[in-house]
Order: sequence, then C-alpha cells, then structure tokens
Amino acid sequence: MDKFVIHGGRRLQGSVTISGAKNASLALMPTSLLAPGKYELSNTPRNRDVTTFSHLLESLGVQAELNGNTLVLDSSNITSHEAPYEQVKQMRASIYVLGPLVARFGEAKVSLPGGCNFGPRPIDLHLKGLEKLGANITLEGGYIHAHCKRLQGAHFHFDVSSVGASVNIMMAATLAAGHTTLTNVALEPEVTALALMLIKMGARIEGLGTTTLEIDGVDELKPVNDSTIPDRIEAATYLIAAAATRGSVTAHNVDAHHLTAVLQALEDSGCELDVTENSIHVNMDANPKPVDITTAPYPGYPTDAQAQWSAYMLNATGTARIKDTIYPTRFGYVPELHRLGATIDTDDSSCFVKGGARLTGATVMSSDLRASASLVIAAMMAEGESEILRVYHIDRGYASIETRLTELGASIRREQTAEY
Ligand code: EPZ
Repeated sequence: MDKFVIHGGRRLQGSVTISGAKNASLALMPTSLLAPGKYELSNTPRNRDVTTFSHLLESLGVQAELNGNTLVLDSSNITSHEAPYEQVKQMRASIYVLGPLVARFGEAKVSLPGGCNFGPRPIDLHLKGLEKLGANITLEGGYIHAHCKRLQGAHFHFDVSSVGASVNIMMAATLAAGHTTLTNVALEPEVTALALMLIKMGARIEGLGTTTLEIDGVDELKPVNDSTIPDRIEAATYLIAAAATRGSVTAHNVDAHHLTAVLQALEDSGCELDVTENSIHVNMDANPKPVDITTAPYPGYPTDAQAQWSAYMLNATGTARIKDTIYPTRFGYVPELHRLGATIDTDDSSCFVKGGARLTGATVMSSDLRASASLVIAAMMAEGESEILRVYHIDRGYASIETRLTELGASIRREQTAEY
C-alpha cells in the first residue's frame, strides 16, 4: 500500500493540464451497454475508478482498452447481466449498469453498493425511477433483481436532486416505449454531458440544462465516439492548493463555466484570478480572508470540493464555516487535520475552521477521495514532513497527482508502506 511523504512550505507555481472528468467518464462508459458496437471516449482520465469500471464492463462481456487517454469499448458481445458484489463494493457508480441492462435486455442483477465512509448514500431514487418505468424490482441476497418485458415511458420526479439517479433513469428512459418526463433532474455538467452523448447515439431528449427532461423512447441506439469534459473538481483542487500555498498557478483544459461557485469563493478570499475560455490563473500572496461556504447541487458550491476548502481556510485571518447540505456528515478529514495542528470544531452539518493555527507535519490517514486531497493540501501548508497513508483513495480520482504537484514545485513523493 502506498503513502505520500510531503515537505510543506513551498509555493505552487507554474501550470497544470486538467484531466477529463472522472464523474463524466463513469457516466459515459455504461452507455456502451445500450447499443452493441465500438465506442471511443477521448480525454478519458487515467485513474483507478475508470479502471474499476472497465473491469466491471469486462465482466459483462465488453472489451475495454485505454490507450493513452482514449478508452475504446466494444460491446458487440454482452455475455452477462450481473454486476457482482466483488466489483460493485469497490465503487458506488457501478450501479450505473442497472438502468442500461434492464432497458436493453429486460433483466439485470446488480449488487447493492453497501456503505460509504462519509455517510448514508441511499439508491432509492434509482429503484423508484425504474419501477416507475415499469421494471419489477426485488432485493434479495444483497442484490437488486430487475425484470421487465420493455420499459414504458412515464413521469418521474426526483424527490432529491441526484446525479446518479438522473444518470441511471435518463439512460433507461431512452429505450423505454413512449414518452418519459423527468423532473428535478440534476444539472451537474456530467449529467448534461451524458445527455449530449445519448442524443449523438440517437436518443430523443429535450430540456438539457433545465431540471425537466422530455424523452421519447426509441427502439435502438447506435454506438458513437465522444470526448470527456474537463474535471471541474480536479481543477478546483489544484486552484485551491495553489491559493493555500500562496502560489501562482494556471490550470489548462478547464471549463470555467463549470466552476463559478468555486471561483467566486476564491475571489472572495482575496485571490487574483485571470479566467479565459479554457484556462484559469490564480495568484495568492497573502493569507486569505475567511470565506464561509455552503455546498449545494450544481451550480452551487460542490460537496466534492468542500474538504479542500477547509484545508485552505486553515491559513485564513479568521474563522470560516463549511456547511455540507448534500452529505452533512462528510467531515471525516477533520480529526486528521487536527493531527497537523488545526483548530476546527464541528456540528451536525458543518465545520468551523479557525484560521492562523501553526501547522506542523504529522502522519495522517486518508478516508476517502476528497478527504485525502484535503490532507495533501494541508500537508503542503504545514512546516516539516508529513506522511499521508492509504493514498489508494486519492488514486481513485486524481491521475498521477504527486508528479503534477512536483512539477508545480511541491516536495511530494510516493512510497510503499508495510501498512495493511
Ligand atoms: C455523485 O454521487 C458523485 N459521484 C459524487 O462524487 C458527488 O459527491 C455527488 O454526486 C454529489 O455531487 C459520481 O458522479 C460518480 P447523488 P451520487 O445521487 O450520484 C441523495 C467524488 O468524490 N440520494 O447526487 O452518489 C444522497 O444521499 C464523488 O467524486 C437519495 O436520497 O450522489 C445525497 O444526499 C463522491 N437517494 C444526494 O441525494 C438516491 O437514490 C445527492 O446524491 C440517490 C441520492
């Protein structure tokens, strides 16, 4: 198992090219189950979650090959409609095969995803949506069993704005007989990117960019090639890291429109920003002002960038409140930041970061993907050496982060540990 060794106190400087979005790739890959044939997805990030999803698709009979950043999927010969626990337990997004399998083959057996480090993550909307489209759903032996002759168009309202349920039900509705109306659909760019690919495949979807989608089902779709949008959360992480180290960094291959809430918060904290169509330059040479954030569904401040913000606020000239309305208990990183010398209180849905504490290096433990990004940022802010354990979490969503941070001037290296 790997760890990172980081010596803090260095300003990040230079430029970084942002990868394709993990959460867009994970939404595009299961479309290959909707129509037999070859798909090429360019700008695919080389991270562990993409590899895990490729293995899942391979267990269903899809051939998957990642050449550089182009993922080639061939779904000409699907051999199974079952997503086993061994695969699904590694990554919740595995549930995305459920909608396409039941829509195309009339049956699916998918393991329930199980628990998550940062709190309850139900999938009731995925199941209710498919039931509304006429699927017969039973839960048995830790598995979802879904059957139907053919899905039927219907009106389904998402009680909560859900990225995952929107992805699953939108894919399923494209092959349902008749018309489907989906309301309170998630607006995240990854959901819109999926809808655009489905339309390229021949789906009839209207209302993109709004919370209401009108979908006329078709009898069949066709395989296409597509390109993955930039990763707004990876971009946010590098921009916040730059500000936290009082650095000067340009992120390339970004879509600034996807980052309005994050850029507003950076500006409010005192950063200088220079934003173009596909690059963002941030410069920070002072301690930030304390800026409160409250996460919300897109275009609000993303929950996937709140832990990074908490680390940044450790340098602030006052106290900042970080409130998470999507995952109220997503503060597992706080005790680890305490180990670096941070002063942070928490309540039932927020943490309160008291800026100005002297941070010193320590050994800390990653608990999930974004929590580990927060620890890397804080370790770069701290004096001395830190060790970050269980970095397999960060490898899930950040391609070669230590190499890119080193190119920006950080002192970070990956080492093997005997830890189990
Ligand atoms: C997606 O997860 C992302 N994952 C998450 O990013 C991200 O944190 C989350 O959206 C919110 O933005 C991927 O895209 C693969 P949701 P997802 O369904 O789809 C409730 C990362 O770090 N809900 O939008 O699982 C749920 O409890 C990951 O990259 C239901 O109540 O999230 C939450 O409060 C972590 N019932 C809210 O909706 C359901 O059936 C939003 O969850 C589904 C969700």
